[in-house]
Amino acid sequence: MAQDPPPAHGRNPQLHQKDEHVYHEFREEAALLNFVLTRDIPIPHPLLPPPAPENIPFDTIGTLFTGRDEILRALRESLLAADAAPGTVPGRSVVQLIHGTGGVGKTRLAVEYARRFPDGYTARLFLRSSSPGAIDESLASLAGLFLLNLPEQDEKETEVRIAAAIRWLAAHPGYLLVIDNVDTQEARDHAATLLAKLPPGHVLLTSRLHTWHFGNPQRLAARRFPYISYTERVL
Ligand SMILES: Nc1ncnc2c1ncn2[C@@H]1O[C@H](COP(=O)(O)OP(=O)(O)OP(=O)(O)O)[C@@H](O)[C@H]1O
Ligand SMILES: [Mg+2]
Repeated sequence: MAQDPPPAHGRNPQLHQKDEHVYHEFREEAALLNFVLTRDIPIPHPLLPPPAPENIPFDTIGTLFTGRDEILRALRESLLAADAAPGTVPGRSVVQLIHGTGGVGKTRLAVEYARRFPDGYTARLFLRSSSPGAIDESLASLAGLFLLNLPEQDEKETEVRIAAAIRWLAAHPGYLLVIDNVDTQEARDHAATLLAKLPPGHVLLTSRLHTWHFGNPQRLAARRFPYISYTERVL
């Protein structure tokens, strides 16, 4: 009785192809799982409302955060007070400039604020802002899969993704946005332009620069920019 020839390399090629296919699918799933697990991305529970989007890059340092209780409280109070202050332009962003010399603890203050006061914010977002390009890239990346997850996330044009992110903010007023390390004049001017476009929310802006002009006062009332400025260095 005639027998089938033995499979190439000792294996049935068709079976081998199927194995490869399954193997590739498995690898893709494993990569996705690995991505989710290593990034600590919250998995939505079907019965709970989806968590507010958040990309604050550091966790709280808890009790290691010292000497800033008062300034943290002042920051909170001034943001809330500015929301309610008479004479403020309705619908404008409230911006707190956290100014100080390098290493003084500006970013940490903004991070601790974001970690300790999550309630009521529609999102807590963080922009790395050392240059105009970094601000744009950071803003565009908010549209991404594990954050705002917008339909435009795969668009090539940075401007399209930025516009989508700003549209999301407009549709979800009451966000917190940290614009961090705006330390060059170019980055400052770019951030000021961005501020003028932002829908209502709280903005924490950290910078070593102390000269800030917030653009057209008709659009952004100067009184909405109380600032925190301090120079003690954290040891
Ligand atoms: N209140 C604090 N208590 C304990 N550690 C702090 C405190 N503030 C800042 N630090 C720590 O000091 C270091 C410098 O702080 P941070 O990065 O916030 O400074 P910065 O002012 O943003 O600096 P740069 O101008 O370089 O951006 C970090 O390791 C931070 O965790
Ligand atoms: Mg910093």
